[in-house]
Amino acid sequence: MSTRPDFPETFLFGAATAAHQVEGDNRHNDWWRAERQGRLPHSSGAACRHFELYEQDFDLARGFAHNAHRLSIEWSRIEPREGRVDPAALDHYRRVLEALRGRGIEPVLTLHHFTHPCWFADAGAWTRPDNLRAFARYVETVAEALGDLVGWWVTVNEPTVLAKHAHVTGDWPPFGRGDWKAARRTVLGMSRAHRTAYDILHRRLGDVRVGFAHSAPWVMARRPATLLDRFAALSRDLALNRLPVRLAAGPLDFLGVNYYTRALVHWRPRGTARLFGEDWPGPDGEEPRRFSEMGWEVWPQGLELQLRRFSALGVPLLVSENGLATGDEEARSRFLLDHLRAVARALRAGVQVCGYLWWSLLDNFEWAEGFRPRFGLFATDYVSFARTARPAAELFAEIARSRRLPDALNSPYFAPPAVSRRQRPDARR
Ligand code: FCB
Repeated sequence: MSTRPDFPETFLFGAATAAHQVEGDNRHNDWWRAERQGRLPHSSGAACRHFELYEQDFDLARGFAHNAHRLSIEWSRIEPREGRVDPAALDHYRRVLEALRGRGIEPVLTLHHFTHPCWFADAGAWTRPDNLRAFARYVETVAEALGDLVGWWVTVNEPTVLAKHAHVTGDWPPFGRGDWKAARRTVLGMSRAHRTAYDILHRRLGDVRVGFAHSAPWVMARRPATLLDRFAALSRDLALNRLPVRLAAGPLDFLGVNYYTRALVHWRPRGTARLFGEDWPGPDGEEPRRFSEMGWEVWPQGLELQLRRFSALGVPLLVSENGLATGDEEARSRFLLDHLRAVARALRAGVQVCGYLWWSLLDNFEWAEGFRPRFGLFATDYVSFARTARPAAELFAEIARSRRLPDALNSPYFAPPAVSRRQRPDARR
């Protein structure tokens, strides 16, 4: 093949995980406590037993051509009681990072991914500005103990998502409902936490890359000609994209873009969040809308649009999460290919995209949804803890190896076109 590859040689291909979702037995955080108290519908328990099986999991990643892997370290393991660092936990994470490096996989390390040590949660977590000191101390500890092994740092994951579930919809600890003030404080507190961590990591480690992971739904008005729909979409976009990125973007070496879906917004005169409108569940145009098992619309164009828009920040963009909860393997492979196409289009347009990380390496504990949603490139058997590669894992490996997108029509991952045409009328009903 003589044409230029679709992805540059330095491009990071890999998957993302988060400690509480895969490790198992994370006993010292606010999620575990709420699970035990029966305040959450599901318990993480042993999760994927990744805490013990990480080497085997990284063998899989390596075998399927990943050259990067995003993971989070669990603050509550490192500092189970305030100010008392557990050296065994730090040693464990050293071994984990060495295991990645030893396989030629670049670690992308998240410092905070939704869970908190219980003592930090009890002190009000991000809603209290004073608590930032505790986070800064944790970052210093981690930088000192693990800094030599990590070049890519994600300070915090999705402040807006945590703020919403923890303080507005009330389905995550500490189960606040309609508490917009706490939600705003959480986003502000986590933005400060990002800036603080940025300074610490650069002061201690010099030339590393530090960013944060932003949940980036593409927001659109359902009826663009209707002023109130447009207003709802604008205010939603302001709250979910513009402001949170602006708040944290001061010091930023890259932006982590977590992209799953678009929000098609229409105005509703009633409801708690009326300023932000509501998601339109009905049809939109000719084509049937496709939704994941999370109820999130599949809309690959939105990834390209977000990458183009965030390119204005002038820093490289890392797709730090993208994936589909489904039991339909063809749909999973198509989702992967369609989103990688969106990334390739952005690259061709000159956007600096430095990598793409699929959510997730394994089926895992999907927060309040439990183990039902299946996001993995590898299926997890929750009885034997065996992992099985899915077709999308093979497709991803093929693309990562060649750095080229296959032609969907000639690819073994998809049914022949005649079959898809016959299926279309049914899908519309
Ligand atoms: C993101 C989270 C990640 C996972 C995916 C499906 O919002 O960052 O932990 O739950 O959604």
